[in-house]
Amino acid sequence: MKPKVYITRKIPSSILEKMQEVCEVRMWEKEDIPVPYEVLEKEIDHVDGLFCLLTETIDEALMIKAKNLKIISNMAVGYNNIDVKAATHRGIMVTNTPEVLTETTADLTFALLMSTARRIPESMEYLKNGKWKTWSPMQLTGQDVFGATLGIIGLGRIGEALVKRAKGFDMNILYYNRSRKTDKEYELGIQYTELETLLKQSDFICVMTPLTPATINLIDKKELSLMKKTAVLINTARGGIVNESALYEALINGDIWGAGLDVFENEPVSTEHSLLTLPNVVALPHIGSASIKTRLKMAEVASENLIQGLTNSVPKNLVNK
Ligand code: DGY
Repeated sequence: MKPKVYITRKIPSSILEKMQEVCEVRMWEKEDIPVPYEVLEKEIDHVDGLFCLLTETIDEALMIKAKNLKIISNMAVGYNNIDVKAATHRGIMVTNTPEVLTETTADLTFALLMSTARRIPESMEYLKNGKWKTWSPMQLTGQDVFGATLGIIGLGRIGEALVKRAKGFDMNILYYNRSRKTDKEYELGIQYTELETLLKQSDFICVMTPLTPATINLIDKKELSLMKKTAVLINTARGGIVNESALYEALINGDIWGAGLDVFENEPVSTEHSLLTLPNVVALPHIGSASIKTRLKMAEVASENLIQGLTNSVPKNLVNK
């Protein structure tokens, strides 16, 4: 008998077909609407494997319903949407999709940094709205990226990939990580600092750490107050690491210069959100890994992890070892 699998969103047919060779698959067929919790509750009841996205909260209550569940395969590198502790307790494997999205997410992070620094979306609106009447000396002026100091909070794979881009812009690079990585300092030509020093000295601060109980509101009122008035804050990691109301206050009070956000505490972010009213915020709909190649690869890796877990081998990207 084939193992039973539920997929929480429509995935590319090439990946689906491969899974169907090995598994009996049911899938939430909609592309732009997440599976309702009540539907997931029913579906999870009898499956051996779950293929899910970061939009689904996989909590203990769901796991209690899932009597046969052996593996939860998340199509994302981050897995803060899953109660891993509860899964481990119940003997359920949890997997993620690291590596394949590293370069694509680093690209987007640097693109967002540049867009915010040079006010690209705002400038485009300015032109489209007929405000461009003449060239003038200080019109739409931003911050220089070349030669500036970049502070990276969280030196994981994506943080390291970001360093390579920043080096091309002759940036001076500081990093803060919960454990110091001396080998990387030499290899990448970067310098470790305490968080407070990084916040004080950086022109650009990129949040690249996972969301865990220890990183919730890591960037709050106090941390924002330490930043330069010309600083630009970039978050492509997870909402919840930056306190959004404190960030709004810091931006309207001119305590920092701008922010580029690809992630929000509640996603999709409400179009009424105060941060979206500010011209010095560049906001994106969580597209860090959104290149065609990378998203296909992520779906493939998530499906491979799932199949490995269901065919008695250890999945390559097991999170709860
Ligand atoms: C992840 O994988 O965790 C990203 O946020 C989406 O690609």
